[in-house]
Amino acid sequence: PPTLNQLAAAKGRYFASATDNPELSDAPYTAVLGSEFGVITPGNSMKWDTTEPTRGQFSFAKGDAVVSFAQAHGEDVRGHTLVWHSQLPGWVSALPASEVRSAMESHIAGEAGHYKGQVKAWDVVNEPFNDDGTYRTSPFYNAMGKDFITYALQAARAADPAAKLYINDYNTDGTGAKSDAMYNLVRDLKAAGVPIDGVGFQAHLATQYGFPSQMQQNLQRFADLGVDVAITELDVRMVLPADATKLAAQSTYYRQVTEACLAVSRCVGITIWDYTDKYSWVPGAFSGQGSACLWDSNLQPKAVLDVVRTAL
Ligand code: XIL
Repeated sequence: PPTLNQLAAAKGRYFASATDNPELSDAPYTAVLGSEFGVITPGNSMKWDTTEPTRGQFSFAKGDAVVSFAQAHGEDVRGHTLVWHSQLPGWVSALPASEVRSAMESHIAGEAGHYKGQVKAWDVVNEPFNDDGTYRTSPFYNAMGKDFITYALQAARAADPAAKLYINDYNTDGTGAKSDAMYNLVRDLKAAGVPIDGVGFQAHLATQYGFPSQMQQNLQRFADLGVDVAITELDVRMVLPADATKLAAQSTYYRQVTEACLAVSRCVGITIWDYTDKYSWVPGAFSGQGSACLWDSNLQPKAVLDVVRTAL
């Protein structure tokens, strides 16, 4: 049978999974990771606390291992992420405001320069907004205001001119205040000639919170600004234990996300935030929740996988 990526490719899209270094020694896991997907994303190994834990001392071994795996299996890589308030080493937060811009630009030059030509896209800026659409406090915002986003994108373009440059966030999948804030930002960046190629929609969904409102229309309005859009971290968690109602809602959500992407010509692909419950981040991040992925914790396909395959 065709793989998820082959099904997506027939529609001009890619289908991708996140992964992480400890998982790469699990042979049954890597058999699926290396065959089912067209793109993989390191879930942690390209974050600032891993790649530049001490100022000016870069460490790319973990990210390189993910890139090597991808290349050995004919897969592309989405780089994640250059500038984010979380998983940020303490030395950045401790900098005087006057030094944050140069530290950020050096980090981007070092990391995106190292991976030049090896990642098809970068999540340059991750999660810049609060849920009410105001800018999130971070060392970057505190030092530069919203211009940190412009400076980050410009530095990334200079470091790797061929990589598609994205801003990525969660709770922007549907319409609402946070999504409007992202829309206004991207509109302004485009108008100012700032290098921005795409907007990432994490799509960390939960059956207890409902499906994002007007997702397809929301993706379309971003595409209409002249950028690509991508589903970058899809999973659909539920409060455990699972039951038939929750599983039905989960299947509907996965189907609707897939359909929304396919309905928007500039939606370039879908990334799931790891393919198996064995390595999902959900139980560690949301107490009492889980069962969010397409394969179960024994690496067996779940019924929802067929729903996605059918929707592609
Ligand atoms: C998560 C990883 O999957 C976890 O292993 C880690 O402990 C925390 O970060 N939004 C993002 C991702 O952009 O980087 C996060 O990844 C999940 C939420």
